[in-house]
Amino acid sequence: MIAPVAVVPTLGGLHAGHEALIHAAKKRASTVVATLFLNPTQFGETEDLRKYPANRDQDLEIMRKAGVNAVFAPSVEEMYPPGDSFIVDPGPIAQVLEGQHRPGHMQAVATVVAKLFNATRPDLAYFGEKDAQQLEVVRRLSRDLCFGIEIVAVGTVRDDRNIALSSRLAYLTQDERLAAEVLYRSLCAARDLANMGQHTVSDLETAMRSIIAEETLATLDYAVVVDPQTFKPPNKSDASSQLQALIALKIGSTRLIDNLRIS
Ligand code: PAJ
Repeated sequence: MIAPVAVVPTLGGLHAGHEALIHAAKKRASTVVATLFLNPTQFGETEDLRKYPANRDQDLEIMRKAGVNAVFAPSVEEMYPPGDSFIVDPGPIAQVLEGQHRPGHMQAVATVVAKLFNATRPDLAYFGEKDAQQLEVVRRLSRDLCFGIEIVAVGTVRDDRNIALSSRLAYLTQDERLAAEVLYRSLCAARDLANMGQHTVSDLETAMRSIIAEETLATLDYAVVVDPQTFKPPNKSDASSQLQALIALKIGSTRLIDNLRIS
């Protein structure tokens, strides 16, 4: 069934990952609204808000070519009017991993996504699996706050060397781009080890961390295997459950994340 309206929220700096979301949305909705808003509140003080690699004209052109019907590109003042004080707190899931390494980030994402949902009133909303924790936060936002919006997940789009596309890849030098291959290589090592059986979660994490340690340009934030619903260590008694391997690291000064479902 075709839904009336789908939304695809973005920060700008569009690439083929964002385009995949728009193409997926077009298959199921008669009107696709893309949002273009470099949300300042989700960037930490030492992060790259001021130099974020987004070009408005280029982004609008990519959106147009991908076939969006409307773009919602509000100003900061429209999204955060003077005196604005509400914050959406997702609870414990916002405290771990990305939430722990980027304090306040998940609250800021949940808050801006709630605003974008209210401003665009979609039936469907498209998010990438590349930001797995964000995707789960948004699913809970829609469910727990009764938005009634169906959250549709789109698989991670990668380049020909399996690097997950990200606006921040634009910061990397040639050597750093080669080094960035370490993310997917480590995730695959964890998955392959899990497929062989007889390995604990801690074995899988050690395997990822030792591969990352060999990459001199990489500085690790985390490399973990968690329960994909809670993003906490999996329940040991439930050996059949799905797991998610997640990595966040810096290549030089550029922070990258990636993840892979493993069983
Ligand atoms: P942004 O980083 O621009 O990403 C917008 C959407 O594109 C997110 O749902 C993200 O998961 C998805 N995406 C990014 N890279 C992808 C890839 N390689 N493959 C598939 N999907 C990919 O995420 C945000 O913006 C913001 O936090 C936002 C949700 C817009 C709130 O400000």
